[in-house]
Amino acid sequence: MNTLFIGRYLSRLDRVDSTNNYAFELLKRSDLPDGSVIWADEQWQGKGQRGNEWFGTPYTNLTMSVVLKPRFLEAEEYFYLTKVVTLAIVSYLESLNLQDVKIKWPNDIYIGDKKVAGLLIENQLKGSRINLSVLGIGLNLNEMIFPAHLPKATSVKRETGKHQSIELVMERLCEEIEANYLRLKSNLQDLDRVFETYLWGMNKWRTFLLNGQPIELMISGVSSQGRLMVKGRDGELRKYDFRQLSFML
Ligand code: BTN
Repeated sequence: MNTLFIGRYLSRLDRVDSTNNYAFELLKRSDLPDGSVIWADEQWQGKGQRGNEWFGTPYTNLTMSVVLKPRFLEAEEYFYLTKVVTLAIVSYLESLNLQDVKIKWPNDIYIGDKKVAGLLIENQLKGSRINLSVLGIGLNLNEMIFPAHLPKATSVKRETGKHQSIELVMERLCEEIEANYLRLKSNLQDLDRVFETYLWGMNKWRTFLLNGQPIELMISGVSSQGRLMVKGRDGELRKYDFRQLSFML
């Protein structure tokens, strides 16, 4: 792997409840080097957003966690880590000539109208700063059949027809994450513009659920605190966090 620190310490597991949980367990017992990677072939309790389970057939997809120590970031700047990882995944997908790769705020990667990857980033704070961050990545690589309750899921193999080497993709993501993270460290705003070009629904009218009520809004970006910036039909600019606002698909 062509990196300076991400993935230099690598723990590959056959089976684990969740790579994120395992990373936190290791961190409780001893310190881990910045950039440590936990990678598992099977998770029996993979965690998704909002308490959901993350589905995956063993030995078929990429499920990994990267441990970072982004102590230069204030707690409210946590969303920059989402930018680092989503853009790394986008860069890999685009290298396969896939069309219509988008980042769906806050944490999902879509190809067309289907989700191919999700992130679960868990941070530990120290004072006002981020002491530790566990970046959990679930990327569907070779899964061909998804359960009926996931009609909007896809995988790279389904979209390209080509088998993907999980190990090579893991290495590629480590390299891309490192490059983006180093850019972030030297200038927080450096990834903003490219992030917006991949943001699903950017400058388009979409129907959302705002506190449970349908509403037409246009996305105009993501704030430095990770809130979605939207414009209403009245022209007013507002910011919402993911607890208030969801997409109606
Ligand atoms: C989502 O879209 O709901 C987020 C999915 C995140 C899944 C990954 S798989 C590796 C890491 N370990 C976990 O338990 N979850 C994340």
